[in-house]
Amino acid sequence: MFNRTKRTRNADKLKLDKLHLIDLVCQNYHVKSLADLGGIWGVNGGYTFYALKKHGIKRAFLVDTDVTEEVRLKAKRFPVLTIINENFGMKDIARRIGKVDAIILFDVLLHQVDPDWDTVLEMYAPFTDIFIIYNQQFIGSDKTVRLFDLGYEGFFQNVPRAKDDPLYKEVFEKMYEMHPQHNRIWRDIHNIWQWGIVDDCLFAKMKELGFRLEYYRNFGQFYHLHNFENHAFVFKKTEGHYREL
Ligand SMILES: C[S@@+](CC[C@H](N)C(=O)[O-])C[C@H]1O[C@@H](n2cnc3c(N)ncnc32)[C@H](O)[C@@H]1O
Repeated sequence: MFNRTKRTRNADKLKLDKLHLIDLVCQNYHVKSLADLGGIWGVNGGYTFYALKKHGIKRAFLVDTDVTEEVRLKAKRFPVLTIINENFGMKDIARRIGKVDAIILFDVLLHQVDPDWDTVLEMYAPFTDIFIIYNQQFIGSDKTVRLFDLGYEGFFQNVPRAKDDPLYKEVFEKMYEMHPQHNRIWRDIHNIWQWGIVDDCLFAKMKELGFRLEYYRNFGQFYHLHNFENHAFVFKKTEGHYREL
């Protein structure tokens, strides 16, 4: 069952391993509110809509800088869903969402710069009890690396795009120019691969934030990239770390 792709009517590609992760958490932790951070590209909010339909979610948020018209239209059928077309790293977004039972971060952590991936976790930790994370994790060293620091050749050995990919070409050409949409230099946009995050760094960060690892699964190598594997994590807040917002 795992690692297969389900094609919906909209031809969105939802991965069964991620759907199972949502089922596992919603069933075992009685999740009734959630925020899906970065849930658009390639799936058009598919994981949010799946959770809404299958798990009786009472309050949901879908946050992405690139919300599509299709998602806006579909969202109208779900009054409990709020769409936020913003960068979820912006300071006020977590507070706008408020407290939710779970936060979904599927294939997004490695893209986060300014704030970096670990600061994003810090920002949302006070607002949730559970993080559901699926991320391409780095196994090429024992330290987390910013992929640009590997040099030009090293960078392209560790991203799933070729040197002539139009977006990546543009990033290298305009590295320190301001990006017109994202209000930051091209080097820091979230549309490209930014980090090689190692498990130990993620575990250390979550421990520091007062979260315990409840579930872990290694789904194996990510495409042709020998240094990256798909890893799934569920982290739950430990008792001592609940506090009033
Ligand atoms: C690689 S896609 C992952 C899509 C989906 N979560 C999945 O698992 O297939 C990353 C998505 O997150 C969005 N994204 C990444 N970082 C973001 C940020 N800081 N703020 C808002 N959207 C972000 C991108 O626009 C894109 O839609």
